[in-house]
Amino acid sequence: MAVLPVIIAPDPRLKVRCQAVGRIDAEVRRLMDDLLESMGPAKGIGLAAPQVGITRRVIVVDVHGEDEEPNPLALANPEILSASDEVMVNEEGCLSLPEYYAEVRRAAAIQVRYVDRQGKVCELAAEGLLATCIQHEMDHLDGILFVDHISALKRNIILRKLSKMKRAAGEAAD
Ligand code: NI
Repeated sequence: MAVLPVIIAPDPRLKVRCQAVGRIDAEVRRLMDDLLESMGPAKGIGLAAPQVGITRRVIVVDVHGEDEEPNPLALANPEILSASDEVMVNEEGCLSLPEYYAEVRRAAAIQVRYVDRQGKVCELAAEGLLATCIQHEMDHLDGILFVDHISALKRNIILRKLSKMKRAAGEAAD
């Protein structure tokens, strides 16, 4: 397993529609493991393959609470089968937009179908934080960031600040 660097927005690699994975082979399993390991140090609760530069439809989530055991979940080719009419608003962040948060409206409950690490087709009913997290990570597979759900004004402020931060970091490295 390896901790992979997470791509910071704005970046064209985060705006790509990812391709479905075929068979769950050793390469896909390693991607799942790497994603889980890569979100750990940053205390993320989810990560999507495009955030580490791999344009495949794979996401990982782990929304366990502080006093709970880890509950890592890797989902390949996730699809939402149904979503509740009820919506919820949660403050979201993203490892690709470090230090920025915004309230996003999403379905409160979803039914998801995906292929697991063993290649088995699974269905999962998710609500609350897990539902938010899965919807956020699935958005990444279609090149959508949480800031795409907020006003253009707020989005542009955040992306401009991140651009500036990246330029400063790049200059410091030169
Ligand atoms: Ni994200």
